[in-house]
Amino acid sequence: MALCNVAGPAGMGFIRRRMSRSPGFPQHIIARKRDGHALTPEEIASFVRGATDGSWADYQLSAMLMAIFLRGMTPEETAAYTGAMMHSGVTADLSSVKQRKADKHSTGGVGDKVSLHLAPMIAACGVAVPMISGRGLGHSGGTLDKLESIAGFRVDLSFEEYRAQLERIGLCLIGQTRELAPADRKLYALRDVTATVECIPLICASILSKKLAEGTDVLVGDVKFGRGAFMKTKADARRLAQELVSVATSMGTPMRAVLTAMHEPLGRTVGNALEVVESIACLHGRGPADTMAVTYAVAEQMLVLAGAAGSTAEARSKLEQTITSGAARRKFSEVIEAQGGDARVIDEPARLPQARLKEPLRATRAGFVGDVDAMGVALAALRLGAGRSRAEDRVDPAVGVSDLVKIGERIEAGAPLCVVHANNEAALGDAREMLARAIVVGDAPGTVPSLVAEVIG
Ligand code: URA
Repeated sequence: MALCNVAGPAGMGFIRRRMSRSPGFPQHIIARKRDGHALTPEEIASFVRGATDGSWADYQLSAMLMAIFLRGMTPEETAAYTGAMMHSGVTADLSSVKQRKADKHSTGGVGDKVSLHLAPMIAACGVAVPMISGRGLGHSGGTLDKLESIAGFRVDLSFEEYRAQLERIGLCLIGQTRELAPADRKLYALRDVTATVECIPLICASILSKKLAEGTDVLVGDVKFGRGAFMKTKADARRLAQELVSVATSMGTPMRAVLTAMHEPLGRTVGNALEVVESIACLHGRGPADTMAVTYAVAEQMLVLAGAAGSTAEARSKLEQTITSGAARRKFSEVIEAQGGDARVIDEPARLPQARLKEPLRATRAGFVGDVDAMGVALAALRLGAGRSRAEDRVDPAVGVSDLVKIGERIEAGAPLCVVHANNEAALGDAREMLARAIVVGDAPGTVPSLVAEVIG
């Protein structure tokens, strides 16, 4: 995937038209960015206002997005753009929540269920977690869809309910309200259909405008790289992480980012209810090693940044205690009950939605797992109905893939490579074929990049 340009001087090879400088007119502001100039905060504010109140037409907004994609933005422009996006709607005043507040944001991956068990672990350490999450779109899953597979769980709380719950139990897991960063809602929809998603300043402002509006004191990013991630290379992920950290910090919210590999799916499940089951296993101390490695890497930084631990080692020990003492499990139960869900799933995960068809996919030979392509598994889960291709699609909470083998494991002929959960025979057949291509058994164990690659900030 090609990433957009970084900002530079007015470039060569573009036809330049002379235009009078009248920053009030959309076409003049678009022309300035098209010609490679840095926009003023007023020009950026006009663009964002235009997206919010409809005073810029969709074709003008789209032209501006493409100009930004091609010309990039300076760090000052990105900060001004992020601020304007954040203030395009309401921002939460959480001063009545006495605890320090920490949140995380993952740039999205396959099987990434970390938020579900990490949030109660952090809250059990006495740091409040005001978490506003998104739905899955395309190949990557979303925390809201996973939570909604718990019967009754409400993610559409009002701001007042959100604040009151944070004051009461120090944890709230909700979806983006209509009032939060409305400019991003409009611009993200346009980016999706104008080939302007993969652009660091646009991604940075989109993520931070929502996260900073929710009222957190500190933020930790889980910036993923690899086949199953937005950023395909570690170098691109590092550039995004550096931009996120520098813009958030310049806007008064301390931030760090952890770069993590998304080469094979995280954990052994992909699919909404199946991932909740795995997250509950993490809270019982039976989580897969890779999932817990990413969980601890992100959670340690959250506790240190929030001032609840003096070092990552101290943070680790506090986090481990939340699992061994059962405190994180109790906190998860509390949040499920507070949001109307059936908390019995914690001890009885079979209460979660179950697919009608469950079929193992078996190895045709003995050997080592040479590859489990995260994107291939994600597309198989999408075919089963676990995700959505368009924002208005409904997801099937029960379907997906469980018991996935991991790269490097030894496997016997006929042993299961995974179990496919389906509610439809045709989808089951297609998904089996896709998974058979995504999971490769060979003579030598495959290798994966180091899971937690670096910490930025
Ligand atoms: N997530 C977002 O919220 N926005 C982007 O632009 C990319 C990922």
